[in-house]
Amino acid sequence: MFSSVGALFTLITTLSLSVSALSYENLTINYPNSPNIPKILVYTYTDGYRHDSIPTAIEALAKGKKRWGVEFEFEEDKGRFTDEGLQWYDAIMFISVTGEALDEEGQKAFQRYLQNGGNFIGVHAATVALPQSDMYKQSIGALFEWHPVLQDATFKKEGVSHPATAHIPDGWRFGEEVYYFTSDPRDNGAVVLLSVDENSYNNEGYKSSNGDPHPIAWYIDPPKTSQPLAEGISKGGRVFYTALGHSNETWQDDVFMEHLVSGLVRTLDGATTKAYKQGQVGCEDPRPPPTPQPSTATTEGSLTDVGEIGGVAKPTGPGGNVHLANTATAMRIVESRGMGVSLCFVLGFLVGYYVVV
Ligand SMILES: *[C@@H]1O[C@H](CO)[C@@H](O)[C@H](O)[C@H]1NC(C)=O
Ligand SMILES: *[C@@H]1O[C@H](CO)[C@@H](O)[C@H](O)[C@H]1NC(C)=O
Repeated sequence: MFSSVGALFTLITTLSLSVSALSYENLTINYPNSPNIPKILVYTYTDGYRHDSIPTAIEALAKGKKRWGVEFEFEEDKGRFTDEGLQWYDAIMFISVTGEALDEEGQKAFQRYLQNGGNFIGVHAATVALPQSDMYKQSIGALFEWHPVLQDATFKKEGVSHPATAHIPDGWRFGEEVYYFTSDPRDNGAVVLLSVDENSYNNEGYKSSNGDPHPIAWYIDPPKTSQPLAEGISKGGRVFYTALGHSNETWQDDVFMEHLVSGLVRTLDGATTKAYKQGQVGCEDPRPPPTPQPSTATTEGSLTDVGEIGGVAKPTGPGGNVHLANTATAMRIVESRGMGVSLCFVLGFLVGYYVVV
C-alpha cells in the first residue's frame, strides 16, 4: 500500500509536470537570448520603381530583433529563391518589391515554400511585383492597380479582431498612398482587416474593382497556392499583407510599426512555423528546446488564442489578440481543455484504482 501511494504520488507529480508543460504553450516574442527565434527573409529587390523608404524600412526592422525576438535577414538577390535558400526561414517578407522580382525557377521555389507550410508577408508595393504571375497574385491576394497622390486618408478597422489592428483607432487619419487593386483579395480567401473610407481623400473619381469596403490590409490562412501541400505537411502557412508603408515617416510611425509587426507575429503564430516548434518551415534543425525565461509580459501583452496544439491547426479565427505592448512582449497562451479533461480522467481512474486495491 505504501509503495502504491508512493507510486501514485510520483505518477501524479509526473503527470502534472508534463501536463503543465503541455497545457500552456507560452509564446514569447521577446526571447532575445534564445537561439530559437523566428527567422524572416526580407526581400527588397526592385525592377522598376524603387521606394526610397526601403533603407528606412530595413533600419526599422533591423532594430527590432531585440525588441521582438524576430531575426530579419535582408536580401536583394533573386538567386536566394531556391529550395535550399528558403528552407531556413519561418517567413518571407516582400517590402515594396516591384516588377519581375523572381524568375520562373524562383517562383516555383516560392510556391514550394508555401506548399511546405511557409508564411508570407507582403508590404506596400509587394503587390506591384510579378504582375504576370497568377500564382503570386493568389498568394498575396490581389495586385496593385493605381494610387492617388499621397495624402491623409481615413482608415477603418474591419469587424475582425486581429492583433494587426487591435491598437488602431477607429477612423485613423494617416498620410499614405491609398492603393487600389485590380481585383478583390476576398476572391482569394482574404479576410480584410483594414479598409479605407473612399470619401476621406481625393480619389479623382477613380473606380476600382477591388470590392467594398476598400481593402487595405488582410490575411489569408492559408493561401490557395499552398495546395497541393508537400508530403507530410498538414496545412499551408499564413499570409499577411498591408498596403501601408510608402514613406520614411510611415516606417518611423509607431502605429504602423505595431500594425506590421503584430501582423507578422500573428502570421508566425501558425501551425507551420518551426521556431514555434510546430511545423516544417524554417531555421535550425533540430531546434533546441526553448529556454524557460522569466515572463516580462504585462497584462496587455497576452493573447488568448485560438490556435493549435501539437500541430493540429484551426483557421486563424478572429478573436486572437496579440498586442505588442511597450514592453514589446507578445505572448500566447494556449490552454488545452482537452488535456485537462484527460488529466481528470486519468487521475480519477488512478484514484479509483488505488482505492479499490
Ligand atoms: C505559461 O503561462 C501560464 C499562464 O499565464 C503560466 O501559469 C505558466 O507558468 C507559463 N509557463 C511558462 C513555461 O512560462
Ligand atoms: C528617405 O530616407 C532615405 C534614406 O534613409 C533618404 O535617402 C530619402 O531621401 C528619404 N526620402 C525622403 C522623401 O525624405
